[in-house]
Amino acid sequence: MVASDSPFVVQMQDIVKMFPGVRALDHVNFELKPGELRSLVGKNGAGKSTLMNVLAGIYQPEEGKIYVNGQLIHPMTTERARQLGIAFVHQHSQLVPALSIAENIFLGNPLTGGSGFMAWKRLNDEARKRLNTLGLEIDVERKVEDLTVAEKQIIEIAKALFANAHTIILDEATAPLPKDEVNMLFDFVRRQSQQGVAFVYISHYIEEVFELCEVVTVMRDGQIVGDYKVANLDQAELIRLISGTRVEQFHRESRNGSGKTVLEIHGLNRPGFYQDIDLVIHEGEVLGLTGLEGCGKANLARGLYCLEPLGKGQVVLNGKPYHPDEPEAALDAGVAYLPRDRHGMGIVGMRPVGENVTFSILKRLTSRFGLLDTGRERKHILSFVEKLGIKTPSVNQPVEFLSGGNQQKVVFAKLVSAEPRVLFLDEPTQGVDVQAKVEIMKIIDQLSRQGVSSVIVSEEIREMLDVCDRILVMYNGAIVAEFKVGDPNFAAEKILMAVEGEREAL
Ligand SMILES: Nc1ncnc2c1ncn2[C@@H]1O[C@H](COP(=O)(O)OP(=O)(O)OP(=O)(O)O)[C@@H](O)[C@H]1O
Ligand SMILES: [Mg+2]
Repeated sequence: MVASDSPFVVQMQDIVKMFPGVRALDHVNFELKPGELRSLVGKNGAGKSTLMNVLAGIYQPEEGKIYVNGQLIHPMTTERARQLGIAFVHQHSQLVPALSIAENIFLGNPLTGGSGFMAWKRLNDEARKRLNTLGLEIDVERKVEDLTVAEKQIIEIAKALFANAHTIILDEATAPLPKDEVNMLFDFVRRQSQQGVAFVYISHYIEEVFELCEVVTVMRDGQIVGDYKVANLDQAELIRLISGTRVEQFHRESRNGSGKTVLEIHGLNRPGFYQDIDLVIHEGEVLGLTGLEGCGKANLARGLYCLEPLGKGQVVLNGKPYHPDEPEAALDAGVAYLPRDRHGMGIVGMRPVGENVTFSILKRLTSRFGLLDTGRERKHILSFVEKLGIKTPSVNQPVEFLSGGNQQKVVFAKLVSAEPRVLFLDEPTQGVDVQAKVEIMKIIDQLSRQGVSSVIVSEEIREMLDVCDRILVMYNGAIVAEFKVGDPNFAAEKILMAVEGEREAL
């Protein structure tokens, strides 16, 4: 580290970053002190990731200066950023799943014995020793693929610290993590900050910003709105600063479903994932499916959409046996699925926003002479762009150039456009800003009034309480509890207890 008189570890001055048709950063100033826990917040497309990509040398700005420890760095490259101690921990783990923690820690820098063979014992001992210096007691022989999301994040941060990082950028580190895991990650981050490591924490979870950070920088439309001490703000105020207007809450009004059965599942079994699942989903019902990671809730949804083996049992959709052999067949039968991982199957990145939204309904928009009704297509796309606040220079923009949250909104729009009868939504509000969360809830509610059933697979219990008619809790592959709107037990604390497996407490 270069000794300097600067009180700042990082200073970014007057940064301008242009993309075709977009001024992503408009004369942005951003500063960070050693050991600071600073949150960076803003709506989808505000410029948060772009700003941090400039700091990490991934994007070159058109204008502006970057100082690290008081020293002007020009140009900033990924290599220089790394050497200077700036580390970007991405939401998608960069660790190698099939390798152990110890192997991952020394990846790219292996310890080899005299004969050139990897000295396993030494490797494990050394990894354990180093992790101990960070206050971590972890079995270093565990494979990374067996770790929880928070544990992976911790190992990634540790790896950066071993490479002498003093500034760590977490871009949505905790989307979405169960409470106890969030605590584990935050404890670790706090301890490192006390040792002088600065953190930039990007998140759409306002509660977590308040829990972890001392200071928050708010961005809007590529500009800095301001820097605030968290202690001087309340949550509503921060949300207003982020959106620039008052954000209306989603208020549920009672819905009267027809009570007709749409999907029936009897005695569904998949060894290692779930057992004896019996489930009836009604027309227009909004059902929540929750539980700890690995409880089987996501597997069930993915199985019903043919992305995984479904297992043995009986499934009936609209009175007919339901056994599609591929996702297209499921979609044809009226079942749609919003994946948690939008980088996987959700979007066609190189294609324009508009095409992605209407992809699944081209047939309906095409006349019997084979002509696409472009006027109707455009209207349809624009209505979604407006409703969900999809920030894009035009509907012709390839989706891969949109910000993370805006990509998620495109996937959601595409799915809803297919007019399914049953919609499985795996963490539908992951990565989207507070305002868009409300809009997504409203769309789910509207669909329900039109008779479309939704199954929300999520760990965001508070959000589910706002929109669900019924919430089921899974534990170790079984449905262990049911909560209905209107019951006194339809409350976050009660549901959380069931999630944690404290069934006797019900
Ligand atoms: N590679 C790119 N090419 C073109 N435009 C881009 C590119 N990356 C970002 N943009 C645009 O720059 C703006 C800022 O995007 P950025 O990814 O920084 O937003 P963000 O604040 O991180 O949003 P989110 O909360 O959704 O992650 C957006 O309008 C986006 O469309
Ligand atoms: Mg981003």
